[in-house]
Amino acid sequence: METRKDWWKNSVIYQIYPRSFMDSNGDGIGDLNGIRQKLDYLKLLGVDVLWLSPVYASPNADNGYDISDYRAIMEDFGTMEDFDAFLAEAHEKGLKIVMDLVVNHTSDEHAWFLEARSSKENPYRDYYIWKDGDTEPNNWGSVFSGSAWEKDEATNQWYLHLFATKQPDLNWENEKVRQEVYSMMTWWLDKGVDGFRMDVINLISKDQRFLDAPTYGGLYGNSMIYTANGPRVHEFLKEMNRNVLSKYDIVTVGEAPGVTVEEAKKYTSADENELNMVFQFEMMSIDQGEYGKWTPIPFDLRKMKQNFKKWQEGLADQGWNSLYWNNHDQPRIVSRFGNASEEWRKKSAKMLGLCLHMHQGTPYIYQGEEIGMTNVRFDSIEDYKDVEILNAYKELVKDSKRLSEDTFMEGGYRMSRDNARTPMQWNDQKNGGFSSGQPWIGVNPNYRTINAEEALADPDSVFYFYQKLIDLRHKLPILTNGVYKQYLEEDENVYVFSREGENESLVVLCNFSRSPQHVVLPDELVGNAQLLLSNEEEKELQKEMDLTPYEGIVYQIKK
Ligand code: NOJ
Repeated sequence: METRKDWWKNSVIYQIYPRSFMDSNGDGIGDLNGIRQKLDYLKLLGVDVLWLSPVYASPNADNGYDISDYRAIMEDFGTMEDFDAFLAEAHEKGLKIVMDLVVNHTSDEHAWFLEARSSKENPYRDYYIWKDGDTEPNNWGSVFSGSAWEKDEATNQWYLHLFATKQPDLNWENEKVRQEVYSMMTWWLDKGVDGFRMDVINLISKDQRFLDAPTYGGLYGNSMIYTANGPRVHEFLKEMNRNVLSKYDIVTVGEAPGVTVEEAKKYTSADENELNMVFQFEMMSIDQGEYGKWTPIPFDLRKMKQNFKKWQEGLADQGWNSLYWNNHDQPRIVSRFGNASEEWRKKSAKMLGLCLHMHQGTPYIYQGEEIGMTNVRFDSIEDYKDVEILNAYKELVKDSKRLSEDTFMEGGYRMSRDNARTPMQWNDQKNGGFSSGQPWIGVNPNYRTINAEEALADPDSVFYFYQKLIDLRHKLPILTNGVYKQYLEEDENVYVFSREGENESLVVLCNFSRSPQHVVLPDELVGNAQLLLSNEEEKELQKEMDLTPYEGIVYQIKK
């Protein structure tokens, strides 16, 4: 049993989207027993922790992020017995399990909401956020299009839903809500789970004035101004920490859209007693255009480098970073910041992995990233399943006609969340080995060449490269502790940084472009270097270097 404090600082966390990982019973939907079958695969990769996207009972308006019972397992995924067996086996194999905690909102089918909407006097009414009015109480928009308010005709009041209509926001001002959440968390921790990834946890404290928000030219106000990092959020998280988190040796990561470095310090500094780390999103918007993600623009490497610098330096002494390229809400990284063509897919996937994993923070790997899975292009909007793209299509293409069908679909091909949600590609057999039945969402047709079996058979695969990255994280304390420093900041194609320790340093060079690049390094970087890892043929560290397309290298220098 691991007892070292802060074990999560040199752990690597692997995210599983259960619906799309492995189907054990042929119903076309991934499940817990399917994940169990793949534990040895994950052990071979070498990760320490598995984060499961929600597995709780849910009507699936947002694939499990709309929970109707926090203490039950979604039938599609199995039973509580299956969960217990899964947890026990994962622990036997030395893998920790992190649960998704979705407590900014519930499903509208949760017992609390059913009670709450039954009458204004119901004791659960105040578990949610209700307002009077002939029209919407303010102009806030939902993240999934349209207004964030829904009229409940029966009781003639509006309830707030920052996400889908079927995801009413909980009222964290109500102490009873907080106590219910803490007791539910305690229940799972007593079962033995090893931590929580907290869904949009920085939105739980709403500014109680409920003022109109700026629209930035859109139809609705951006509610984030009044909901993200709200007035009482730190008070609530400190209370949660006191009541629950501090009593267990666990890892916590808060999803925090709109978080700034200063706020992140408050969430994640050890002496603040809130969370271990947060997911920030600035990097995920560097390629968004006029209509946000639906009109993507080419990304500028300098912006990415500035962002890395800001967060690496910002949280160097206080707080802790999470490192991720992918998750279930983001397109596939090799298609986004790399190159998914047959020629460059593997090489650019390795370069991206190397780049991310050489930073300070806890790295996350999203299922399929380790084999270089790519975005998908479904023929028609009907093939998409995600509430976000379906609502946006209705709003932007059908209703307001702000975007043409073609423009929108191109945006979707690049940015839709379903890019991440196509089934994991295990082999070149039917449905990529994911399911013997009809998968709930289309399999990316490239499973015939991109799949885990192929990767495991190829010693030069992205999989084994990630295995090495994970191994380095475990073996080299400098990856956890070394001081980050960036070089050649103005270079538009190459990212150069170092990690400095007392007796050694690491030098990282990444060519993000599809053309060869010549770089002239500052003298301080060039020393008696040994190659640690690269996705190219061996070459020495020299003052002037020629990098091949998508080359990624890390050197170790002993001082
Ligand atoms: C963030 C989750 O990652 C996303 O998948 C979900 O739709 C929203 N929060 C709402 O729960």
